[in-house]
Amino acid sequence: MASEQELEEIRRRVDIVDLISNYVTMRKAGANFKALCPFHEERTGSFMISPEKQIYKCFGCNEGGDIFGFVIKMEGLNFPEAIRFLADRSGVKIEDKFEPTQEKKDDKNRLLNINELASKYFQTILLNHELGKGALEYLKKRGISEEMIRKFRIGFAPEKRGLGDFLVKRGFRESEIAAAGKPERFYKRIMFPIADPMGTTIAFTGREFPDGPGPKYLNTAETALFHKSRALYGLNNAKMAIRQKGSIIFVEGQMDVIASHQAGVENVVASSGTAVTEDHFRIMYRYAQRFVLAFDNDEAGQKATEKVIEICLRENYTADVCVLPAEFKDAGEVIEKVPQMWPELIKKAIPAVQWHFDRAFSMVGDEMSLNGTQKKQIAAKLLPIINQIADSVEKQHYLQKLANRLSVTVEILKGSIKQDKYASKKPSEPVGEEIKKIEKLDLQGELIGQLINNPGLGKEFIGKINEKHFTNTYITIVKMIKIWYNEAVIISENVQKELISYLRKNLNEADQEILKKIIDSSMNPKNELEAGEDNATIESAINQTLEHLSLNYHENQKLDFARAIGEAEESGDRKKVKELLSQLQTFLQSAGGIKNGEKDN
Ligand code: CTP
Ligand code: MN
Repeated sequence: MASEQELEEIRRRVDIVDLISNYVTMRKAGANFKALCPFHEERTGSFMISPEKQIYKCFGCNEGGDIFGFVIKMEGLNFPEAIRFLADRSGVKIEDKFEPTQEKKDDKNRLLNINELASKYFQTILLNHELGKGALEYLKKRGISEEMIRKFRIGFAPEKRGLGDFLVKRGFRESEIAAAGKPERFYKRIMFPIADPMGTTIAFTGREFPDGPGPKYLNTAETALFHKSRALYGLNNAKMAIRQKGSIIFVEGQMDVIASHQAGVENVVASSGTAVTEDHFRIMYRYAQRFVLAFDNDEAGQKATEKVIEICLRENYTADVCVLPAEFKDAGEVIEKVPQMWPELIKKAIPAVQWHFDRAFSMVGDEMSLNGTQKKQIAAKLLPIINQIADSVEKQHYLQKLANRLSVTVEILKGSIKQDKYASKKPSEPVGEEIKKIEKLDLQGELIGQLINNPGLGKEFIGKINEKHFTNTYITIVKMIKIWYNEAVIISENVQKELISYLRKNLNEADQEILKKIIDSSMNPKNELEAGEDNATIESAINQTLEHLSLNYHENQKLDFARAIGEAEESGDRKKVKELLSQLQTFLQSAGGIKNGEKDN
């Protein structure tokens, strides 16, 4: 963590007006500047920036803070990441023993440079070269404007390959080009750079052009920079709109994303057609808490929708489904043919469970005269889904609804669930490259698994762990891990083994069981996290889990307050209401500090 002087130095060098002007257009208003708020949707500007106080404040949505708060919110970073972000941009050197060494950073930068150069090379060919002419015409014919081509840095890899030589001439070694993902291997493809959330190219997707033997799309293989299970196409260009709308539209392909921007809907990302994972959702959840699913209108798209709904129900994310009319194959086609329909369809998105209801009931005939078999079939389809709903109020709502439509009682349905008939059954059969899930750990278990799996890195995180964020199930194990990190004398080479045996020795039987579960699920080779990844990636994964835990905790606390205040209000206990409100106020203030990871220990 950076020192107070270093933070001061960053504050001295980064002017809040300069910083924020990278994101919004502002105009002078007296001593301050005024803009449309980037954090909520509005028509008149209530977003004020004070150069004198070096803070911003929105009088519409109440967001406010300093330069660090701004990038935390805007870029979806935690506090240490925000410091690094601003330090890098202002040239402040930070002493941080947990930072990768300069050498490592340089290596990584070289790989990034290769991809950046490659994307410039491809774009030059598309826009300025004879060899790119056909592809450019094709894109224009599909309604992609030059503005979009530049915004998404689309390019073309011609049949004649020259990128390899170009990169070697620029001083890159073959081994580095290979480590960067071999961009020179693409040919006869329209190239879509895949960027990290900051907009730096980390990989490519290439669409065959002209159409040939296939495959239609080709992705860069996994590299140290690019992990398919986490990359989100278009996130860098969507961040601002996502913040304003508070939701993310999730589509299947590059063309859907780009077309959507062209139609003015910018809060859209894609998973590059590859398997959607829980990691994708964890990352997106940092930016918005509501998802609108608009996958392709084919079997695969429907399967993907089911799969994503499963994740969302389990993790308690809000998911709605945007239903595309049957005559269109995907969002891209809707937009190409009837652009004005797209925002309308998004507005009409229906709750995920409702989508399942509609499908189940559409498979049988007249709802008024269902026979026993049909009712059984519908219940068999819907109960496992309803049973996955994490929120009990929502669950009750759909049980009631199903009971009404099947003319049975809620108790009967609950009985069916209890018999375990549906409890363990998955709503959808796993297909293709699936979410790799052994026994899914909850977040708390996941963090413990990460610490046990990476004992060499854990120390940095021990101080950041807040015991309050853990329930009784895990608290003893967490405390024990903390003690081990702080006190253990390590005698052998295998640190991990030592940690585990220490825990086994000191935990009671019940906790041992829990530990076993954590170890089994987090160390299974199929669990994709960690295996073979570099330290920075693991650290950022752990950071994300920590942040998610803290977020959950605070949401739960707020709900508890809301409930208690509601109860006090109902019973007319004004004194209690006042007291609770003031406690809530204090809680929210300290939560402001907690968000940036400082006061939370
Ligand atoms: N995809 C892939 N490999 C394939 C086919 C598709 O990785 N063999 C991914 C690509 O990222 C693509 C997405 O899945 O963007 C959606 O595929 P598809 O629906 O076939 O692409 P469209 O967006 O419909 O492409 P187009 O409109 O150009 O036909
Ligand atoms: Mn498609």
